[in-house]
Amino acid sequence: MNAPLDELLEFLRFPSISTEKAHADHVFECGSWLSLKLREFGLRSELRETAGHPIVLARNVHQPGRPTIMIYGHYDVQPVDPLELWRTPPFEPVVADGIITARGATDNKGQIMAHIQGVRATLERAGDLPVNLIFLIEGEEEIGSPHLETFLAAHRDELACDLVAISDTGMVAPGVPTLTYGLRGVAALELKVTGPSSDLHSGIFGGAVANPITALARILSTLHDASGKVAAPGFYEGVEEIEPWEREAWAALPLGDAELLAVTGAPELAGEAGYTALERTWARPTAELNGIGGGYQGPGTKTVIPSEAFAKITCRLVPGQRPDHVMEKLRDHLQAQCPRGVRLEMKGGHAGLPYLTDPHSSAGKAAQRALERTFGKPTALIREGGSIPIVQAFKDVLGAETLLLGLALPDCHAHAPNETFPVENFEAGMRLNQALLEELAVG
Ligand code: BES
Ligand code: MN
Repeated sequence: MNAPLDELLEFLRFPSISTEKAHADHVFECGSWLSLKLREFGLRSELRETAGHPIVLARNVHQPGRPTIMIYGHYDVQPVDPLELWRTPPFEPVVADGIITARGATDNKGQIMAHIQGVRATLERAGDLPVNLIFLIEGEEEIGSPHLETFLAAHRDELACDLVAISDTGMVAPGVPTLTYGLRGVAALELKVTGPSSDLHSGIFGGAVANPITALARILSTLHDASGKVAAPGFYEGVEEIEPWEREAWAALPLGDAELLAVTGAPELAGEAGYTALERTWARPTAELNGIGGGYQGPGTKTVIPSEAFAKITCRLVPGQRPDHVMEKLRDHLQAQCPRGVRLEMKGGHAGLPYLTDPHSSAGKAAQRALERTFGKPTALIREGGSIPIVQAFKDVLGAETLLLGLALPDCHAHAPNETFPVENFEAGMRLNQALLEELAVG
């Protein structure tokens, strides 16, 4: 059998990009490989079909009287573009100076493989795990888990569990054990502004018709007000305020404006007035433009009035907000800003609920003990700004709370070129898995 790190490198070689149809076979091959690995390590494992990419489902022999823990993760990865910015090819993993570089190194192959190798080591050493375990590893997380909730509902009994554990979040700093007890939700909207029925000569027609790019720019300029708040009326309805203990705990973390400035490379931090940058990213809703286009993009000048322009927006949501409600408010606002002479069409996309749990529950305390055993330091209790849309569905469909035990560092470049994961974090993740299952077994 191969060493844990070699198994991870093999896993990283699959270009399992779920967003791109051309990679569908690679996603399937990656899932098949993973399922066989889990079987090789002594679990009962199957590749289960969905209407999209398959789910890897594996378990040990369940025994009455032990808690059932589900470990969830994903084997799909984000696209690699812009490819030219990668220093080494994204699917040819490299280990140098203790750092693994490849697409998926942190998000999420490295983190889920750490759990798998932790389980493997326990099975090799002890022959069994201290808990009933279910691994659910899907291939569609990066496209918003479109088929997972249906799968959970259809297999409720088979998937019944007391708790879900996920390592697909971050650590506040290297070596600092981190328990994430909240995630933001997400809601996406695509805008298309159309004008003339085809591109027009801007000399012959300029002055006579409205320009879709100008119209789009005017619409988008009304997304936020001068204080950095989202300007759509009703957007903040229901938003739950940050608890005083959270503000205090977050202010004491080894992560603040200086670290955020360094890791982002932005000239200064910005956002909604009245909140720290951490509060804004972890517990305040946002509306971000993720893409914009229209008209001529090539070198030099082309005198044209384009027939259309587009933009892509995603909102991050916090407890108290619902994607459908927020999208309705945003659509109403943007439609009302559309100038005359063009048409604005909007289409919804990904939607996922926010999540918040109690880090001081008995399972939360067990997770903190496991983190502290692994890293030898007190646990940082945080929320995060990213989204794992299925987490609230674990609660709604299976009745199980989720603990997020992140191993990613702020500078791991998730979703970006040159994604990395320190070997040290991979190894800590294996130990964390073993400590976690032991602590959860005692309750
Ligand atoms: N692991 C991330 C989510 C994440 C990142 C949580 C950092 C907390 C901290 C996950 O793989 C992801 O990228 N999710 C997407 C979801 C979207 C595609 C619906 C996200 O947050 O953009
Ligand atoms: Mn991701």
